[in-house]
Amino acid sequence: MLKVFRGELLHFLAEPAKVSLQDSYQYIEDGLLIIKDGLVAEVGKAVDLLPTLDENVDITHYKSGLIMPGFIDTHVHYPQTEMIASYGEQLLEWLENYTFPFERQFSDLAHGKKVAEFFLTQLLAAGTTTALVFGTVHKESVEAFFTIAQQKKLRMICGKVLMDQNCPDYLSDTAQSGYDDSKALIEKWHNVDRLQYAITPRFAPTCSTEQLNKAGQLLRENPGVYLHTHLSENQAEIAWVEALFPDSDGYLDVYDKSKLLGRRSVFAHGVHLHDSECKRLGETNSAIAFCPSSNLFLGSGLFNLQQAQKFDVNVGYGTDIGAGTTFSMLSTLNEAYKTQQLRAEKLDPFQSFYLATLGGAIALDLEGTIGNFTKGAEADFIVLDYFATPLIARRMKHCKTLSEKLFILSMIGDERHIKSTYIMGEKV
Ligand code: GUN
Ligand code: ZN
Repeated sequence: MLKVFRGELLHFLAEPAKVSLQDSYQYIEDGLLIIKDGLVAEVGKAVDLLPTLDENVDITHYKSGLIMPGFIDTHVHYPQTEMIASYGEQLLEWLENYTFPFERQFSDLAHGKKVAEFFLTQLLAAGTTTALVFGTVHKESVEAFFTIAQQKKLRMICGKVLMDQNCPDYLSDTAQSGYDDSKALIEKWHNVDRLQYAITPRFAPTCSTEQLNKAGQLLRENPGVYLHTHLSENQAEIAWVEALFPDSDGYLDVYDKSKLLGRRSVFAHGVHLHDSECKRLGETNSAIAFCPSSNLFLGSGLFNLQQAQKFDVNVGYGTDIGAGTTFSMLSTLNEAYKTQQLRAEKLDPFQSFYLATLGGAIALDLEGTIGNFTKGAEADFIVLDYFATPLIARRMKHCKTLSEKLFILSMIGDERHIKSTYIMGEKV
């Protein structure tokens, strides 16, 4: 079945920082997005494509607003939705005082489903259509998440947390039970509809070497699954890892020794990486999830985007709810810009919107499937409203270029600017 959308269109073809700006995106002031059976069939100028269409075809015309691919959140914890904005601590104390007790509730499948429903509704309202998501240690948490994501026909990646040390007993698995539960979840859910599985060791401090090695074994035994964990977020965490793993040559090497790096490996944060670690991430095609609102909220530090780019590391944005403070990718762009300002670096709005869409897709090894309007891609897209609040409407009146409009959206925009979200061509 054909569905046609008309309006201002923007999507990325390549990374602005790597090619010339004009080669990095396609922008059509009056364009058509033609969708067949939920996939992108064609994009182009309305004047060129309208004559090719059957007269009776139904066209949804957005006379004001920007149509672009849905946002991609490359690191977020759905079980932490209701503990967002917990006061006063940095990472390790925040985990102990707030996060661990909170995650305990997710042994209950019904509770997980309720939270997953709310979480996914919030994500979609914020214009995010795909996410790489932490569950909790309980297999029920992933069962709940996938059940709801499947009902909503979403492309989502999730996994059960592995943690067998330095955590409360009530949240601890074992190397063997973590392996068995992950394997069962992979067999049940990986590549079912649009769902994919991520092997999810929480972070090195809560995983024994035996457990990390078993995670590596799962990766090898199940080609196509992801590896999702945290890396070098906070100085006290890094010092702890060095004390726990004295035979390793730094934090990343703990994961490397267990063979956890690769094209489908995503490491959240990487705020305090050595050049040698960045180089290793680049050469293994691993990705970093840059989570600016979380890094600022927990006082973790300022992510060095230039260092990641220098070593050709794939980067996407993560909200990292509940250490992150917003579901909104637009607000996340704002925090990323300010993070770069504090490093005396610029973050161009084209680069930033690239990272939120195609960059995220590449970080997740899903280029061609989501992230832009290439032919055959899944038609998950949003319509952004330039004028959703009186303030932004006034500000927009003074702006002449697309770059300015994108910048303003990313500085003062949020969920209110997401007019519509479409999944496989269907409005949600
Ligand atoms: N490191 C280990 N677990 C977590 C978590 O839940 N949130 C964040 N931000 N960092 C972590
Ligand atoms: Zn996280």
